[in-house]
Amino acid sequence: MQIKLDASLKAYNTFGLNVTAKYLAKVHSTDEIKQILNSPEAKDIAIIPLGGGSNVLLTKNLDALVVLNKIEGITLEKEDDEYYYVTAGSGVGWHEFVLHCIHKGWGGVENLSLIPGSVGAAPMQNIGAYGVELKDVFWFAEAMELSTQLTLKFKKDDCHFGYRTSIFKTRLKNQTIITKVGFKLNKEHKVNTNYGAINDELVRMGINDPSISDISQAVIKIRQSKLPDPAKIGNSGSFFKNPLVDMVLFEELKSRYPEIPSYQVDDEKVKVPAGWLIESAGWKGTTVGNRYGVHENQALVLVNYGGATGEDIYELSELIIDDIIAKYGIHLEREVNIY
Ligand code: EPU
Repeated sequence: MQIKLDASLKAYNTFGLNVTAKYLAKVHSTDEIKQILNSPEAKDIAIIPLGGGSNVLLTKNLDALVVLNKIEGITLEKEDDEYYYVTAGSGVGWHEFVLHCIHKGWGGVENLSLIPGSVGAAPMQNIGAYGVELKDVFWFAEAMELSTQLTLKFKKDDCHFGYRTSIFKTRLKNQTIITKVGFKLNKEHKVNTNYGAINDELVRMGINDPSISDISQAVIKIRQSKLPDPAKIGNSGSFFKNPLVDMVLFEELKSRYPEIPSYQVDDEKVKVPAGWLIESAGWKGTTVGNRYGVHENQALVLVNYGGATGEDIYELSELIIDDIIAKYGIHLEREVNIY
């Protein structure tokens, strides 16, 4: 197995940032992870697992051993009257997994079409889009604990899933490498078209009884129209989370900005789209020296047109956070993982 020294990570992060890792190794199995962890290079150095690199902002060269996860394979483990039980290697591309499910006729993940990244990162972030979150179809995850090299099994309750978060992103950050994810896909699956944009797209497509494949097509169209393709323009999807705002503050904002969109969460909190806040504050489509900036179609997405450093993008995000506090009294949190 090869461990590269001072390796560029440019091809392994969707922002396309040119930083290096002290050591870089690709792994295709749990045995290979163990070999890497037992190598001399792994002594006294941080281990950073990387999947598709689609939710990280690399602000400096990493004095770490970066483990690139390439564990493959999709398997129908079993089925009963109600569910298909499917597992996937954590290195499988997320969209490849979605397409596999659609091809097999297994419903449940079609709303999550075209999300960049790998299967292993999906529970970490509890990825979500268009009314569906990973936790809705989650069965279990297997993860190797770096300190003991034991493979641990996490059931749904063990994962502490929240909005774009889980135990893997909080308490266990950089302490495990997810190796396998299991999905429980309902055989009586009903397509979820609650998200307005999906309905609008289906009408445009002339479809009124959509299949899972139709939903996937609609989601792909919406995403392609709003979100930049990381293969062409460096980005990591939503850079910030949509903030939860106190009712008292929200009522005050609503009187100042009657058009402010919101989703009621409970009696005390509403979720406000960060994209709206950033756009209304005048940031949408702005660039710094044409090198990086805020995407023109979706203000939640920061983009690297080429030549930006991770620090540049981090500083831009600081400016935005400060401005949103000053204008609306709301503190935006980053969704991406900063290194
Ligand atoms: N909006 C604006 N200006 C913008 C963007 C959005 O005013 O530039 C407002 C609009 O009012 C729109 C509302 O925000 O109605 C919601 O926009 P959108 O449907 O595009 O969703 P979002 O809240 O901006 C979230 C997720 C996306 C996910 C979409 C669809 C987060 C942080 N982002 O974005 O997830 O695809 O909903 O479900 O929750 C990601 O996490 O990387 C991601 C792309």
